[in-house]
Amino acid sequence: MVSSTQPHAYAQLKRELAAAPKTWLVTGVAGFIGSNLLETLLKLDQRVVGLDNFATGHRANLEEVRGLVAPTQWANFQLIEGDIRNLEDCRRACVFRRDGAEHAVNYVLHQAALGSVPRSLQDPIATNESNITGFLNMLVAARDAKVKRFTYAASSSTYGDHPGLPKVEDRIGKPLSPYAVTKYVNELYADVFARCYDFQTIGLRYFNVFGPRQDPEGAYAAVIPKWTASLLTGETVHINGDGETSRDFCYVANAVQANLLAATATDTAATNQVYNVAVGDRTTLNDLFDALRRNLAPYGVSATVQPNYRDFRAGDVRHSQADVSKAVTLLGYAPTHRISDGLEEAMGWYVSRQRRQTAD
Ligand SMILES: NC(=O)c1ccc[n+]([C@@H]2O[C@H](COP(=O)([O-])OP(=O)(O)OC[C@H]3O[C@@H](n4cnc5c(N)ncnc54)[C@H](O)[C@@H]3O)[C@@H](O)[C@H]2O)c1
Repeated sequence: MVSSTQPHAYAQLKRELAAAPKTWLVTGVAGFIGSNLLETLLKLDQRVVGLDNFATGHRANLEEVRGLVAPTQWANFQLIEGDIRNLEDCRRACVFRRDGAEHAVNYVLHQAALGSVPRSLQDPIATNESNITGFLNMLVAARDAKVKRFTYAASSSTYGDHPGLPKVEDRIGKPLSPYAVTKYVNELYADVFARCYDFQTIGLRYFNVFGPRQDPEGAYAAVIPKWTASLLTGETVHINGDGETSRDFCYVANAVQANLLAATATDTAATNQVYNVAVGDRTTLNDLFDALRRNLAPYGVSATVQPNYRDFRAGDVRHSQADVSKAVTLLGYAPTHRISDGLEEAMGWYVSRQRRQTAD
């Protein structure tokens, strides 16, 4: 585990939230990060409205969360099946209904979007509609509902072609894909809403998040769940390029922590900002392959299995590593998991998911 010299702001925050529960809207709640936010919030006895159109999210993720929380905690969850491309759905989701009365949510954690660089290259219009029109709808709905703070999923793809390492928030380059454009436009809109409407926003630039409930299926699956599934089923793992491409892989527990700290930060200097959310490490794809092979050895994966190298992929950034000191200083962020901790924690989930798939 990553150690921290600071008193852990997150531990304190969790105690405060459990003592005085709040109401949250998590968009993209049936997705990977959204369902992890839901699990943490319900375990802290928070009230949660979830919005999702199930474009890439799964009901099975919600069912899994239901099994991980107490029935009384699950009763604090209201799902709205709806689409952020529709303003009325966004407005409906900003309200929690209880005992015949309606209460505006306190905080929005906006995760709904179409992820994946290759998907955006294939269909830039669909990505634009959910990630920009949908984002703007959510901003308008949250502003009108007088939500305290709008925390949203930004992306490390915003660094684009800037060569600097590690990545520092105010030094960005040109976007390298339609997806990266949409995530940068999110930041511009959030900033303008802060200036023009006195509305509080915080953007979290996630760097390659991984963990339980990340979808291993389909053409746009992320590297860790995809490779894990391939190794478990004996399929070839394909590495795009020479394998020396590097990433700052961020376990989902770190991203959840950043969201809760960002939503509730009271320091005015901390609001209307964007933050890197990662660990500050750099792992090459070759190292990742080795780590997965090692972690999967107890499940019958051979120590000598080799990947297949193929062409570099269009739109991919070569190296990515975050400087997380801004989040550490202004939000009290203290990542609890480095990549090895996260892989160890998530491996059991990947394996049991694969076994369920095979049994079906
Ligand atoms: N996972 C990562 O490494 C990573 C990195 C950078 C940024 N992000 C961002 O984090 C957020 C969450 O990503 P994730 O990895 O959990 O992806 P995910 O695909 O698992 O979750 C996204 C969720 O949003 C929902 N959604 C998509 N379009 C929608 C729409 N129009 N209306 C309502 N719901 C819609 C999907 O059904 C899904 O449940 C996204 O905004 C993504 O761009 C993720």
